[in-house]
Amino acid sequence: MHVLITGGAGFIGSHLAERHLANGDQVYVVDNLSTGSLANIDPFRGHPGFRFAEADILHWNGLSEAVAWADRIYHMAAVVGVKKVLEDPVAVMATNMTGTEKLLRAIHHGGWNPQVIIASTSEVYGFNEKDSFAETDNIVLPSAGRLRWAYAVTKLADEFLAFSYARKYGLHIVVVRLFNTIGPNQIGHYGMVVPSFVKQAVNNQPLTVYGEGNQTRSFCDVRDTVVALDHLAGCPEAWGEVVNVGNDQEIAIRDLAERVVTHTGSASPIHYLSYKEAYGEEFEDVTHRRPVLNKLKALTGFDPVWRLDDTLDDLIKRASAKIRRVA
Ligand SMILES: NC(=O)c1ccc[n+]([C@@H]2O[C@H](COP(=O)([O-])OP(=O)(O)OC[C@H]3O[C@@H](n4cnc5c(N)ncnc54)[C@H](O)[C@@H]3O)[C@@H](O)[C@H]2O)c1
Repeated sequence: MHVLITGGAGFIGSHLAERHLANGDQVYVVDNLSTGSLANIDPFRGHPGFRFAEADILHWNGLSEAVAWADRIYHMAAVVGVKKVLEDPVAVMATNMTGTEKLLRAIHHGGWNPQVIIASTSEVYGFNEKDSFAETDNIVLPSAGRLRWAYAVTKLADEFLAFSYARKYGLHIVVVRLFNTIGPNQIGHYGMVVPSFVKQAVNNQPLTVYGEGNQTRSFCDVRDTVVALDHLAGCPEAWGEVVNVGNDQEIAIRDLAERVVTHTGSASPIHYLSYKEAYGEEFEDVTHRRPVLNKLKALTGFDPVWRLDDTLDDLIKRASAKIRRVA
């Protein structure tokens, strides 16, 4: 199979590349390395099935050719992360919406009908107050133009773009609403909580919890996520559908911080920082983010196998080894 991965030098994209290369597929990655890195794709660079283009999806002149070559496309390129979104909302709107539209238009004009995964996010559920979110639940976003929500709005626009192309042109697209994903290659620079905590703990630095830490999240290991995406892309019943992808085990951020410290055996204290100090006035956090996974399970039989404790142990081991290599 020929697999094109936009944003394939990023966190989730690099795991997709690894999975497909291991399956014997040909993999073509395009990435502008804005948050992704060469280090993430270094292990594949000499591989005969691997090709990389350093380019911005908005201006890439190889797009039509790559799209026509691909049997499957994972569209992961996006400006991601709370900090990035607040720093540069214009880039978020351009990459996340125009990039997706360009890709879909190229697929339609390519005349070939590859399987397509479009990455959306649990952020689209916004302030919905239900305990857990199913794909049929309402989207609840604030009416005032708060930029903190720019990311969710662009991803919602991507969903509607995808459904429009699927409906009008019969494209084989699955929209995946990814809930918090964690694992190797994720970096903490842009506000991702688990890599930040792990890095702070292995360096015996204080762990920074925003707010009181009562907010809960459900973390899915990326090595489970890519299995789900692979199954969904190849599942005709999923084409034209939106599907939650994640793990439904919830943990409060305060408990997560304590667990990381315990698993590391670190002397790190836990510090609490208000959202205002962390992000400025504008920031509103959501209290919880737990997926209902019935649709994913019914379509693919998928069940995550990685437990949070095992992922944390793996990440702590890798981060500690990195420190030893540098020292
Ligand atoms: N990680 C999560 O928990 C999570 C949750 C929900 C949704 N998602 C979605 O999954 C996808 C992948 O996210 P990730 O966590 O791997 O983040 P990431 O930042 O590691 O990956 C995004 C990749 O896209 C690249 N990119 C950004 N703009 C680009 C452009 N204009 N042209 C080409 N490449 C560009 C970046 O360099 C990066 O490698 C994103 O669409 C994101 O919105 C991720």
